[in-house]
Amino acid sequence: MEWDSKQYLLFERERTRPCLDLVHRLDLSSPGRIVDLGCGTGTSTAALRQRWPDAAITGVDRSASMLRVARRSDRSVEWTRADIARWEPREPFDLVFSNAALQWLPDHPKLLPRLWRAVGPSGALAFQVPAPGPARERWHRAVEEVRRGERGDRPVRAEEISENVLSSAEYYRLLGPRARAVDLWDTEYHHVLPNAQAVVEWTRATGLRPVLAALRTAKERERFLAAYSARVSRAYRPQPDGRVLFPFRRRFVIAYRE
Ligand SMILES: C[S@@+](CC[C@H](N)C(=O)[O-])C[C@H]1O[C@@H](n2cnc3c(N)ncnc32)[C@H](O)[C@@H]1O
Repeated sequence: MEWDSKQYLLFERERTRPCLDLVHRLDLSSPGRIVDLGCGTGTSTAALRQRWPDAAITGVDRSASMLRVARRSDRSVEWTRADIARWEPREPFDLVFSNAALQWLPDHPKLLPRLWRAVGPSGALAFQVPAPGPARERWHRAVEEVRRGERGDRPVRAEEISENVLSSAEYYRLLGPRARAVDLWDTEYHHVLPNAQAVVEWTRATGLRPVLAALRTAKERERFLAAYSARVSRAYRPQPDGRVLFPFRRRFVIAYRE
């Protein structure tokens, strides 16, 4: 299912926050060549450009509609349509960066050593992915409940809502032996959204996509969304001012090469 750039940009400010936190934590003075893997509409690329105005930056994404928006945002970036799973750069980069994209790729024990090979001397691999946690489970549970109601007791298959993310310890074991230093942390954000429907819209743009794609007809999708919205409204209760808090845990990893 193709990405919807308009839907994705609905919560741009909230989605950009973890990206900025990662960009500003990086202990690199002036990386000459940077790649942004899964650059999407170019929001993460803009954060990189702002911190390192003189770097040669490449943005890689496999979605034509996301890249169309990205291309309009910055002409100095080399925008490339490619699948990260098959991406093989000709030259190494000083920074291989990815914000909120690697969770869509399977088999991180194979993927990360491959991405690490694209990091040049004194460079870094840095990425951020959504992390499992009680907060995310709330909307996952809403999905599960609708599924159960609709088709008996079928549980949500892990890969349908992208459970590719490993624990920090697993990332450490993968990258620690190769790196000079590794920096790992999780942060739980509490995004203030106008109402519970905003949680529906947020998840529709990202994690819910594979779930919706698995439904065959527009009518099925409509029915699913109505039942899902009702459950999300019960799971994210309004604050006294009517807004809802949408907790979202993110996992951050930076590995520095010798
Ligand atoms: C949640 S968006 C993040 C976009 C951007 N990094 C940001 O921070 O706004 C995830 C992006 O990853 C891209 N993506 C997912 N799987 C990919 C793959 N295998 N190869 C290339 N891009 C991929 C999607 O097309 C989408 O644009």
